[in-house]
Amino acid sequence: MSDLPMVVPESGLPASVTIYEVGPRDGLQNEKSLVPVQVKEEFVRRLLAAGLPIVEATSFVHPKWVPQLADAAELMTALGADGVECPVLVPNDRGLDRALELGLRHVAIFGSATETFAQKNLNRSYDAQFAMFEPTVARAREAGLDVRAYVSMCFGDPWEGAVPVEQVVTAGRRLLDLGASQLSLGDTIGTGTAGHVTALVAAFAEAGVAPDRLALHFHDTYGQALSNVQAGLRAGVTTYDASAGGLGGCPYAKSATGNLATEDLVWLLTGLGIEHGVDLDAVVATSVWMADHLGRPSPSAVVRAAG
Ligand code: HMG
Ligand code: MG
Repeated sequence: MSDLPMVVPESGLPASVTIYEVGPRDGLQNEKSLVPVQVKEEFVRRLLAAGLPIVEATSFVHPKWVPQLADAAELMTALGADGVECPVLVPNDRGLDRALELGLRHVAIFGSATETFAQKNLNRSYDAQFAMFEPTVARAREAGLDVRAYVSMCFGDPWEGAVPVEQVVTAGRRLLDLGASQLSLGDTIGTGTAGHVTALVAAFAEAGVAPDRLALHFHDTYGQALSNVQAGLRAGVTTYDASAGGLGGCPYAKSATGNLATEDLVWLLTGLGIEHGVDLDAVVATSVWMADHLGRPSPSAVVRAAG
């Protein structure tokens, strides 16, 4: 049984938050070794059992681009009915076809706020990425699926440097206008800081996108993720992406490291008295089990302290 922080609420913050778990997808897409599908299945099942309300399971991308997730169909078949509500990434019609064949209900497209990353991650120009997503989102919606959209490089790009807030808002609006229900703002390389989060959420609000349509997706490369969450909470954002044990990165983004660890996020939310519904001990035990499997310790401070 791990210790828990004292609960001392801060006024003006949301009463509850949704943790959107990305460990099996964002975490495992970046692993050097291939993780057996049975281990992935157990990972997803343990995360769901720990109370995580949303577990993004895998990606229906080109298997040559991300060999780590080439077993996506096998994994979703193994999960069966338990995986139907788990979102999966789909970049295009081919990816959507694969998800539809398995009866999945939640898909996510992933765009870029910058030209260079659109080319490196999607093999498309900035403008061509929207043309690729448009028919996919339309077909997904017609089939009754929920579509999330990610936008990457919101707080800086390793090739282009600073990314103006207005540029991110333009890209995000274009993705939402295709028919996505939620927009996740990715700090793909973890360079963002708290004031930047405040400014970006405010700029979206000014452009007519309220905080309840946003999610925040922080990689913890420079140790800013929790401080950025605090800024997001103060700005009224109620969905945060995180990965169990802090696994993660993007194979096509130089210097992207692990996501904000789910355990670190749970610790903060618990201390603030914000409801999240997640069993911290169960997530820590899962991350310790996964770290044993991967042969290296979790980078999460909470896993190290409580595990
Ligand atoms: P492409 O090579 O331009 O594909 O890749 P294409 O459209 O030219 O098609 C070429 C062949 O690939 C065709 O087969 C297609 O059928 C096949 P052929 O006719 O030659 O036999 N193909 C596929 N096969 C299986 N599944 C598919 C698929 N699509 C085409 N979905 C593509 C374009 C988008 C597919 C490729 O660039 C790709 O897969 N990219 C994915 C990269 C990726 O997964 N990156 C990591 C996720 S993003 C991320 O981590 C950031 C995030 O966490 C947020 C943040 O941190 O900022 C979300
Ligand atoms: Mg990511």
